Amino acid sequence: MKVLIIGTGYVGLNTGVMLAYLGNDVTCIDLNQDKIKGLQERKVPFYEPHLDELFSKIHQKMLFVCNYAEADIPNQDVIFIAVGTPSLPDGNADLTYVRQAAESIAENLGEKFVVVVNKSTVPIGSGNWVEAIIREHYFEVHNEKPNGLFNVVSSPEFLAQGAALFGSFYPDRIVVGSEHELSVARLKDLFGPIMRQDFEAPAFLPRPDGLKEVPMVVCDLTSAEMIKYAANSFLALKISFINEIAHLAQKVGADVSSIARGIGLDKRIGDRFLNAGIGWGGSCFGKDTAALVATARDYNLDMPIIRAARDVNYGQRTWVVDRLQEELKILKGKHIALLGFSFKPNTDDLRDAPSLDISRLLVQRGAVVRAHDPVALNNARSQYPNLGISYSEDLNFILDEVDAIVLISEWPIYRDLAWEAITPVTIIDGRNFLDKERLSQLGFNVIGVGR
Ligand code: UGA
Repeated sequence: MKVLIIGTGYVGLNTGVMLAYLGNDVTCIDLNQDKIKGLQERKVPFYEPHLDELFSKIHQKMLFVCNYAEADIPNQDVIFIAVGTPSLPDGNADLTYVRQAAESIAENLGEKFVVVVNKSTVPIGSGNWVEAIIREHYFEVHNEKPNGLFNVVSSPEFLAQGAALFGSFYPDRIVVGSEHELSVARLKDLFGPIMRQDFEAPAFLPRPDGLKEVPMVVCDLTSAEMIKYAANSFLALKISFINEIAHLAQKVGADVSSIARGIGLDKRIGDRFLNAGIGWGGSCFGKDTAALVATARDYNLDMPIIRAARDVNYGQRTWVVDRLQEELKILKGKHIALLGFSFKPNTDDLRDAPSLDISRLLVQRGAVVRAHDPVALNNARSQYPNLGISYSEDLNFILDEVDAIVLISEWPIYRDLAWEAITPVTIIDGRNFLDKERLSQLGFNVIGVGR
């Protein structure tokens, strides 16, 4: 099939590379010329495991353009909108880029029917809004109605950064929000190889044992949009729940890891997303929980559970610094090393990363902060040059004569450090990830979350 992807961020590029690998003819458009130029030169603009490898394999099957005249919209079978929807200060999503994409589609529609798939996380009701924009804008430009030329479908994305390609090839489900038979049939065709799992798995991304098929949930458009928000809010809630339990565990002398295992084995609860720690960050959970609360507010509805999940989450960041202060008594002038800076391992993304708030709080209280990360420091230097902390790739420098260490994200290299060569200090293990027993034997004072 001929597929156009609008937006070459995490969602757009991973989806495009996956669809090209499955044999589709994929064009990617992004108005950021530098990004497109880089992609034409085979440079992936962000860090994502295996994406480089797969991209270099199928690069010749993909076309990268930065203007709509080259995007061949009249001949596309499916167009994915995968542009960013950042948060506005009031919690609502900024839809400027979605509007631009919809208007550009309208200007370039041909005579052939095309399915427009909304993959960006947009507020509930936006599918209809995109449809209306295309319709109205088409009428403005062509002075006639675009009847039968397009249909807007919602197919939210569930991939997680750091495992994005895995999530693209082996998703738990595909959601298609549409009551339009032809559109649903076309997407069933496009995603057929994923649903049947009959494609040859990339060598470096073997198919999980036992995965024989992936279900497609077909529903109305609004429900599909809401599935995305409900899924992310539920995952966020699960993390905040275990963090709340962790604080009580600490008080009564219990171990949250055992509690998580004990409750997670109950299939009704499930064992994933029950790792206590400094909480969630990233571009999704914070934004989507805020947007759901804001949407509910528009309908005079409160969402106290989701608000509480947010409060617990952001409180974890202050907890780390308070706990450190309790241990060191005075933070002023103390050297603190942060291990990991992105919001989770295997990504260089710093959006809503807990490390940022933790750094700010430490600096406010007078600490001297040095941060390390295996892949995110270039982004840190360019996006946060004025945090008042120093960045270094050199772990010897980072850990030299420190007063305390905070583990922010669970990169294996941190567990495997030559800890015996480091002077024992207090460590806040923000992910309950380090080998506490070994480190305690070496004289470190390891403080986990709820252990
Ligand atoms: C999340 C969802 O997991 C995806 O399904 C969704 O598609 C995506 O948002 C999105 O909306 O685009 P992502 O933000 O990439 O994916 O990363 P997660 O693996 O979900 O982790 C989010 C945060 O939660 C990280 O900071 C992680 O460290 C934290 N986390 C995760 C915990 O603190 N504890 C856990 O048990 C799990």
